[in-house]
Amino acid sequence: MKRFRRLRMQDNLRPLIREHSLSLHDLVYPLFIVEGEGIKEEIPSMPDVYHFSIDKLKDELDELDALGLKTLLIFGVPDSKDSHGHSAYDEKGIVQKAVRAIKSHNDSFYVITDVCMCSYTDHGHCGIIDDSGNVMNDITTEYLAQIALSHVKAGADMVAPSDMMDGRIKAMRDHLDENGFEYVPIMSYALKYSSNYYGPFRVAADSSPKFGNRKRYQMDYHNKREILDIVHEDIQDGADLIMVKPAMMYLDLIQKVKENCSKPVVAYNVSGEYSLIKQGIISGLVDEAIIYETMIGFKRAGADIIITYFAKEIVRKWLSDDN
Ligand code: PBG
Ligand code: ZN
Repeated sequence: MKRFRRLRMQDNLRPLIREHSLSLHDLVYPLFIVEGEGIKEEIPSMPDVYHFSIDKLKDELDELDALGLKTLLIFGVPDSKDSHGHSAYDEKGIVQKAVRAIKSHNDSFYVITDVCMCSYTDHGHCGIIDDSGNVMNDITTEYLAQIALSHVKAGADMVAPSDMMDGRIKAMRDHLDENGFEYVPIMSYALKYSSNYYGPFRVAADSSPKFGNRKRYQMDYHNKREILDIVHEDIQDGADLIMVKPAMMYLDLIQKVKENCSKPVVAYNVSGEYSLIKQGIISGLVDEAIIYETMIGFKRAGADIIITYFAKEIVRKWLSDDN
């Protein structure tokens, strides 16, 4: 008989032979920034996640700094919307102001910005629409490139396009290069599925489509044969990191990407995944250690980086010295 249990028997041995682990440097923390003053409001569908106005960011940044969480993903929730999402590339737009404020408060943060139009358009789609409500691909990529450039000019270290237009990576790379930002990396939301797991986020970012859905541009979750075509196209166009989103039900994709390209793979542990787990813990249904187990699942599948609303809680409970 083989004794598989031999290596499981001692508490001191198991950690020595672990294949996967989680570190501070794996984690990216998303922040939702709103216009206005004096705002730190919990997002009802996302316990422990807040809307911050810029003046209220300082304490949060200091807390993150103390935890050692130095990589942020910024989402802006603007005050005004229009058909062409103008405030998305306004130099005084919410993301641009937030990035400047973060950098001037503490320039050791690494700031990634989400590049999309859905929070900025009055119709809530991720691009410019025609008369029949279809998102027009090629015009939209020009806008996205402009938005990315305005984020970078404000001080963003990396841009992360989440719109799902074809050719956006090339449009963005070219535009950044032409303006002297050859060394700003692009994290592509390369494999982003049209998912029911984004529900809480869309309330938080006020980005729900006012009609229809996003199935004409986000991927169909029944499929996975196209993923390597998409990943390779994105890499050729200039993507530096490849994201899979959502993450929990999409571990097969994380693994497949990891095995088939050399770029860092990013798992986005999205809002619906967060809220379900969080509510499960709050209601006593599952132990909070389920959070850590979920992160190790992403690592085992091949994720190099995890974007998660749990980042602060993870550092406090599983990655700090007193553990
Ligand atoms: C915007 C965007 C979305 C998310 C990130 N950027 C929502 C969407 O595509 O509707 C989802 C993030 C989350 O659910 O945590 N394009
Ligand atoms: Zn969008």
